[in-house]
Amino acid sequence: MGILRLSHVEVRVPDLELATAYYTEVVGLYETAREQDRVFLKCWDEQQHHSVILTSEPTYGLNHMGWKVRYREDLDYYTDRLAKAGVDVIRYAAGEIGPGHGEAIRFTLPSGHVMELVYGMQIVGNLLPLVNPPPKPINMVGFAPPRLDHIFITCEDVAGNTVFLQEVLDFHLTEQVVGDDGFQVATWLERSHHSHDIALVTGKDRGLHHFAFWVDDWTAIRDTADVLAYHGVPIETNPTRHGATRGHCIYFFDPAGNRNEAFTGGYQVDPEEPPITWTEAEMGRAIFYYDGVVDQHFLTVHS
Ligand SMILES: [Fe+2]
Repeated sequence: MGILRLSHVEVRVPDLELATAYYTEVVGLYETAREQDRVFLKCWDEQQHHSVILTSEPTYGLNHMGWKVRYREDLDYYTDRLAKAGVDVIRYAAGEIGPGHGEAIRFTLPSGHVMELVYGMQIVGNLLPLVNPPPKPINMVGFAPPRLDHIFITCEDVAGNTVFLQEVLDFHLTEQVVGDDGFQVATWLERSHHSHDIALVTGKDRGLHHFAFWVDDWTAIRDTADVLAYHGVPIETNPTRHGATRGHCIYFFDPAGNRNEAFTGGYQVDPEEPPITWTEAEMGRAIFYYDGVVDQHFLTVHS
């Protein structure tokens, strides 16, 4: 029981049509529902109704992140845990938040980020038949990631928010950058037994550093770069490798300024395994293993 994985992100975009065109034609997501101010999208291999919500607002950044729980009872369980931690929780019936949405609870992390746990989002199916399916659909557009992977947020108190995720929401710390003063500068945590589902880095509260789409291998990272360059999308970091998580990655921006990543690799992990630690002197290598440095631009949060 408990939290299974990142379910969806809701990001602000000032130009809903431009952002929708980018996420459908360059990324290759599929539109599953539309309202006047919101567009709901999913990756091709996802069964659930949506994993990305674009909301028309004058700014950009993260409105909320949703996490999938296995059972309805998980919503009760975490409502109780959060209440004991002094956190207010709002409960929503299925469909109350939006089309296809399941039952949910919403609350605010110490960092100010709005977090949601959702049970029973509508299953719309992926783009493959359930009997004798081919490995992937034919004629997809964009770099066509099969699924959403993780989110990276910023906050002033990385250590405090990391403890909250561990002690109240049962996340498992897999990696950390510890500063020379002994405080955590960045942390990576998981629920899905992969290297990370969420990461935190020191910065302003409520900030979105990026959210990432999974792609299947290193070659797909190259293909992503080909698609982005063809469409003139600003690539911030060319294909490379992380030290922390060991993943392969490429960073770029949507038309609103939200940072996106295509990610693959990493490792599998059991919940009782101790975290890997990176020292402050090696933080550059933790983020970009080959360059060994993180430029100031990458640490700038565009939200
Ligand atoms: Fe990432």
